[in-house]
Amino acid sequence: MDARVKELLPSPEEYNTLRAAVGWGTYDTAAVALSLPKSLFCVCACCDDRVVGMARVVGDATLVQYVQDVVVLPEFQNRGIGKSLMDAVMAYVGAHATDNSVVGLMSAKGKESFYERYGFVRRPNEQLGSGMTLFWKGTVHAR
Ligand SMILES: CC(C)(COP(=O)(O)OP(=O)(O)OC[C@H]1O[C@@H](n2cnc3c(N)ncnc32)[C@H](O)[C@@H]1OP(=O)(O)O)[C@@H](O)C(=O)NCCC(=O)NCCS
Repeated sequence: MDARVKELLPSPEEYNTLRAAVGWGTYDTAAVALSLPKSLFCVCACCDDRVVGMARVVGDATLVQYVQDVVVLPEFQNRGIGKSLMDAVMAYVGAHATDNSVVGLMSAKGKESFYERYGFVRRPNEQLGSGMTLFWKGTVHAR
């Protein structure tokens, strides 16, 4: 069965299904419904009418673009779907970036080489500090 990559937002339920299938936490569907339409660009891989993968770009569409939620259902992995999703994402990014604008992502553990082929570099390195993430749990008091 071939999957077709097309510009499309998954439904909140489809989004959570994809996340859960790869062991990621799910979100409140109302929060997902607020979030996804604010994506700059979103592609889904569809097999018949089923969403089997997705990738999206968030940011300001010029100076800062972040690649998020690159995911393929386990039973559809290793068939080139992830690459097709990333090819579409990078085509969008390339059409909107300007010289030296930032294209970022937070790689999942062990997935770095999947992104290196698109020119992303690992951090930290000689010039750049670590990427950092905060999983929001409510009010944060600076220590
Ligand atoms: C990462 C992921 C999206 C790749 O999707 P996929 O459909 O299996 O990838 P593809 O079949 O298109 O593979 C594309 C290429 O990347 C390579 N690749 C796939 N997974 C890789 C990995 N973990 N590390 C390095 N390379 C990888 C493949 O070997 C393939 O190389 P080739 O073109 O030389 O044959 C998928 O494994 C996934 O959803 N993982 C769980 C969620 C996740 O961690 N997402 C990344 C978030 S940062």
